This record gives sequence, structure tokens and C-alpha cells, in this order.
Amino acid sequence: MIKQKILQKTFHGFGAEIYDLWWPEGSVSGDEQFYKELLKKQGGNSLEIGCGTGRILIPFLKENFELDGLDYSNDMLNICRDKLNKYNLNAALYQSPMQDFKIPKKYNNIYVPFHSFMIVSDRNQALRSLICFFEHLKQNGQLIISLFIPNYQALALYTEDQDKWRHCKEINLKDGKKVVISDMVINFHLEQIKQVRYRFEIFDSGRLIDTHIQEMKIRWYFQYEFQLMLESVGFKNITAYGDFTFEPLKNYHREMTFQSFKP
Ligand SMILES: C[S@@+](CC[C@H](N)C(=O)[O-])C[C@H]1O[C@@H](n2cnc3c(N)ncnc32)[C@H](O)[C@@H]1O
Repeated sequence: MIKQKILQKTFHGFGAEIYDLWWPEGSVSGDEQFYKELLKKQGGNSLEIGCGTGRILIPFLKENFELDGLDYSNDMLNICRDKLNKYNLNAALYQSPMQDFKIPKKYNNIYVPFHSFMIVSDRNQALRSLICFFEHLKQNGQLIISLFIPNYQALALYTEDQDKWRHCKEINLKDGKKVVISDMVINFHLEQIKQVRYRFEIFDSGRLIDTHIQEMKIRWYFQYEFQLMLESVGFKNITAYGDFTFEPLKNYHREMTFQSFKP
């Protein structure tokens, strides 16, 4: 009988295992190099928020960055911990939600890559997260957050539950099984929420043996809205860069990275 595991928490259990296969180190172009330049320029120690299985954290540690990680998923952190041991690297990994954490250290840099900030879909909690970042930065500390730019054309699609899965990727597991990943998106314009369901179908010798479905809600922000949020928390010298370059935002950019400082 086919097992169906519906709506498990994303980034936990099977979701963590598959994330690491989907997004291993070196799998995304652009962001890693861009963060590296911003961190080097500022210097000092850093905290990656939502460090996950270490796509960025591990290569940075290998390059001797002084770096810790924070994530709310112990399953993601366990995979990251295994990599720390494997490569004999040193970093404190904290299991905590970004909207409510207290760690006994302050940082010169806090950075939140790969849209992780957008996963805190509740507005008040998102603001709480910015306050937590502010509290854990040293004076003149740098905050870097990457968000996708809301694209009007894309948002106009998928406005209702169309029950249409779109193929994303296929991954071959070590034991010979295959995972087919699909997603289904619904956009809630007024709330600025993108609801994404991921379906993971596991095939053994061509036969579907298991299906996992996970859901997450992502809040999108507009440029000036996010700038106001940063200002309301006390951040200064706010700059938004496009597509992991040092260019100011342009219409054709798809990603915005906010750099701001705690005065
Ligand atoms: C898209 S992944 C990014 C992982 C890693 N930074 C990367 O670039 O591959 C998002 C990560 O944020 C974590 N996350 C999501 N919501 C969180 C929250 N409220 N507090 C802390 N971590 C969270 C997830 O567990 C996951 O590891």
C-alpha cells in the first residue's frame, strides 16, 4: 500500500534529509560569493540565521570565517553537525527560532540568506526577528537579509487552489530509490503570502512507494516596506542591492539583499 504522509513540518525529518540533497554546498550561484565580500569588508565574527544543513556555513568555515549558526530545526542542524565533524570544523550551532532567541554572544555580522527570513510569515514575529538581530549585533554591526522581489506577473498566477503540481526536480538516493519533487503555489495578495506545498514522491524500481507533502507560508515584502521595518527597529545606513551584485535595485532584478547597520 502507498503511504501518504501529509503536511509534515518543512525542514524536519524527511524534509531535512531531502533539503541537503536538493541544496548541497555549491548548488546556488551568486549568493555565497556576495555574502563573502560583505562579511570580509566588515570583518569580525558572524552568525548565520537559518543555517540549515550548512550550504553556506560549511564553505565559509573552511575558509576560516569566525562563524556560528542558528536554526529552529534540529534535524537540519544534525546534518550540519555531521559535516562539522567530518571536516573537523568549529562553530556553535544554536537551535532556536529566529523570532525569539537569546545567545550569550554578540556579532559583527548577522546574515539571513536564501529567503529564510520570509519563512517567518507572521508580521509581528518577523518584526520580533529583526529586534532579536538588532540585540545580538555589536555596535556598528552589519545585518544582511536576502528576499525575493515580488514579481507582479508571477504573483498574478496561482491565485487559487488549482490542484496542479509543477515538476521541480528528481533526486537519486544512495539506496537506488528516486525522489520526484513537485510544488503547488497559491498566492494570497492582500496578505502578501505565498503558500507553497512540496510533494516528494519516492519511487523504488519505478514503483511509487511513498509520498510526503509539506507546506510552508512565505511572506513577501516590497522594497520600501522592508526599509521602513528596518528603520523602525533602529537600523541605519540601509542599502538594497540587486541579484547578489553591488548594483542598486533595478526593474530586472529578482533578488534584493538589504545591508543595514546597528548604530
Ligand atoms: C531555505 S533554508 C536555508 C538554509 C541555508 N541557509 C541555505 O542557504 O541553504 C531555510 C532555513 O531556515 C530555517 N528556518 C525557517 N524558519 C525558521 C525560524 N523561524 N527560525 C529559525 N530557523 C528557521 C529552516 O529550518 C531552514 O534550515
